Amino acid sequence: MSTDIRRIAVNTGGGDAPGLNAVIRAVVLSAEQLGWEVFGIRESYDGLLDGDGVVPLDRAAVRGITHQGGTILGTTNRGNPLRWPVEEEDGSVTHVDRSQEVIDALAEREIDALIAIGGDGSLDIAHTLFQKGLKVVGVPKTIDNDLAATNLTFGFITAVETATDAIDKLHSTAEAHQRVMVVEVMGRNAGWIALFSGVAGSADVILIPEIPYDLDRVCARIEERYVVEKREFAIVVVAEGAYPVGGEPLFLQAGGGQERLGGMAHKVATDIEDRTGRETRHLVLGHLQRGGGPNSYDRLLALRFGAAAVKLVRDGRFGCMVALDPPDVLAVPLGEAIARIKTVPLDGDIIETARALGTCMGD
Ligand code: F6P
Repeated sequence: MSTDIRRIAVNTGGGDAPGLNAVIRAVVLSAEQLGWEVFGIRESYDGLLDGDGVVPLDRAAVRGITHQGGTILGTTNRGNPLRWPVEEEDGSVTHVDRSQEVIDALAEREIDALIAIGGDGSLDIAHTLFQKGLKVVGVPKTIDNDLAATNLTFGFITAVETATDAIDKLHSTAEAHQRVMVVEVMGRNAGWIALFSGVAGSADVILIPEIPYDLDRVCARIEERYVVEKREFAIVVVAEGAYPVGGEPLFLQAGGGQERLGGMAHKVATDIEDRTGRETRHLVLGHLQRGGGPNSYDRLLALRFGAAAVKLVRDGRFGCMVALDPPDVLAVPLGEAIARIKTVPLDGDIIETARALGTCMGD
């Protein structure tokens, strides 16, 4: 039990995910019960490094936010304090380590511990700050569900619902025009969103980064549907990180540590139309998948994570992250959580289910 805690800070880093506000609310209300003061750092660590972006959070500040999307603290997936970009006189950009400034800024405000809510990048920063002496507890967040050491991250199921809803809607327009519709979903280099929404939404083809796809197989499945099954439309779900056998993922922006995947739905749609002669359209769901409020599952998970994080601080279990190990929320070392990304296991039952339903997985 750690008895020397009086003031804690909380921040949200990386891309937003539905449920961030629910975590913040649970942190503030549980900390208040222990008699602690809570402060929110604006925009990840920027609030500590640039100006005065540290705000007190009390019961009133977190009233009515459980169901709201985004984050009341703001976030960024740029501006890593371990590699802070600095523009030189000649226009070139170098990077400096400002982690000690983060630690000093918290100490100046007599903040005893930090609860860092983030994905792999933000938790990597949190882990380094912990190694440098800061008392840190992590909370895993990402719609991609690609964090190791936790069964699920909040925001993922909401993103899957958004994607499934879109796939459902595509069925009627695809059927009306006898078209192939190719929809690109997020997920970085993991196919969780594509697989879950594709199976739930009865896609005919699901392409994920874990299984490089063979265009011949994809087109054969589409032809089978039109010609043999006499269902003259098809739905293809493509993870943004998917790529063909012998090929590579596509990027909208590459290099500089700020890579943005994208463009695969357009490529797959063009290739299908060229190969089959069937009219094909594509769309990219993009940030819709991160927007809006969390569904009830994600709200609950986020609230559980927030309350559990405060317990870890109370118990002095720094350098740990809260994690879902159904049915429990427990603590795992931050180092374990950031050691690798969690991809879709090829022998998992959801891929087996997809295949049992006749879905082409690209192979
Ligand atoms: O990690 C969450 C995520 O939404 C990914 O699925 C996606 O590749 C990326 O963030 C997009 O980031 P940005 O907000 O920079 O466009």
